[in-house]
Amino acid sequence: MTDQTATPRSFSASVALKGKIAIPGDKSISHRALMLSALAVGTSRVTGLLEGHDVLATAAAMRAMGATIERRDSGEWVIDGVGVGGLLQPREALDMGNSGTSTRLLMGVVASHPITATFVGDASLSGRPMGRVIDPLSQMGADISASPGGRLPLMVRGLAPAVPLSYRLPMASAQVKSAVLLAGLNTPGITEVIEPVPTRDHSERMLRGFGAELSVDTDADGTRHIRITGEAELKPQTIAVPGDPSSAAFFIVAALIVPGSDVTIANVGLNPTRAGLVDVLRAMGGDIEELDRREVGGEPVADLRVRHSALKGIEVDPAVAPSMIDEFPVLFVAAALAEGRTTTTGLDELRVKESDRLAVMAAGLEAIGVRVTENEDGLVIEGSGGDPLPGDATIAGHLDHRICMSFAVAGLASKAPVTVDDIAPVATSFPNFEALLAGLQA
Ligand code: S3P
Repeated sequence: MTDQTATPRSFSASVALKGKIAIPGDKSISHRALMLSALAVGTSRVTGLLEGHDVLATAAAMRAMGATIERRDSGEWVIDGVGVGGLLQPREALDMGNSGTSTRLLMGVVASHPITATFVGDASLSGRPMGRVIDPLSQMGADISASPGGRLPLMVRGLAPAVPLSYRLPMASAQVKSAVLLAGLNTPGITEVIEPVPTRDHSERMLRGFGAELSVDTDADGTRHIRITGEAELKPQTIAVPGDPSSAAFFIVAALIVPGSDVTIANVGLNPTRAGLVDVLRAMGGDIEELDRREVGGEPVADLRVRHSALKGIEVDPAVAPSMIDEFPVLFVAAALAEGRTTTTGLDELRVKESDRLAVMAAGLEAIGVRVTENEDGLVIEGSGGDPLPGDATIAGHLDHRICMSFAVAGLASKAPVTVDDIAPVATSFPNFEALLAGLQA
């Protein structure tokens, strides 16, 4: 996972994209389904699990701590849990690969178990800040020694019983929220997370689904108080994972910017804490139709029919950022093809993702001929009004799957090819991205 030779790939002006695709399972939900199944008492079954490297890192870690996790030939995953409090000490370091979600959530899980675990990862993950979870988990009693700057490799020595905490999130982060709630699972009493700005709520939904006692109260100003009662007993579940809106995003934007396209994406998760991109693209003039709204695995889902559209630049309200935090790289590509200027602000968190997504997107867009200004907390992009971009550059993906896929999409609307220096990172979240693209071009 950490040591691959680069595989460059070029993407060029595309014929109209046509047809219907099903995208892989939601990454956030897949991680949580494995973790909670592994902490339940008994056998859980999961279908639609994302089989990307990030989620497989979570599976390997839960196995290393005692859960039995098997994939059946049918594609169903069967997990025998050890029960909350029952995790075993892993014999070797847990290799988190590229996955920040695995790392931060599992640090929470380990923090309140009487075990010690070492977390290691690839170059991208080893550069990302872990102080944001080290702080609350240390307050709960975990003893954490990290590399300089609060980075990986790091070691978590859990404490059982841990000390319950009331913690106000200093940044909008579902990973930090989830780390504290997961630590609260095996902590006596009530652990509370106070969330001034709502972030994805998959942990809350799924913890409840597994039978944990969890309440959410919302103040008049929208601040959420999420309380979990610890020493919970989780009951095994059968879970269908909906399709990942963050993966659908690449095909939504591709269909909007490649002339003549008409694409239907089946089974897209539309949890309101994740669906910001669809609203923003509609405000830009994107033709996105929701078909057959339904529920899958306790989450709202629909099929999306997307047709090529003349997009207009807009000012994106920073309040929507948490509900589309992973979709900004590909939104910037849509903005590059729109008529007029698109302005984004309030995106400081993008600087600490798999790469510094503001700097890397600005540099890449400039290299393929887009007029872009990088500000401290956002980008300003002057769109081409639908004219193909010049292209003709090789983009450094910086081990960031969403950067690689965003520039693949940009290549489809460029005069000369756009080359991504290494396509391998795409397999962390979307292993069949290229195959689905080829199918729509056929
Ligand atoms: C995730 C939360 C987000 C997101 C990441 C997955 C999760 O990170 O960027 O891809 O599954 O909780 P933050 O919560 O740190 O913003």
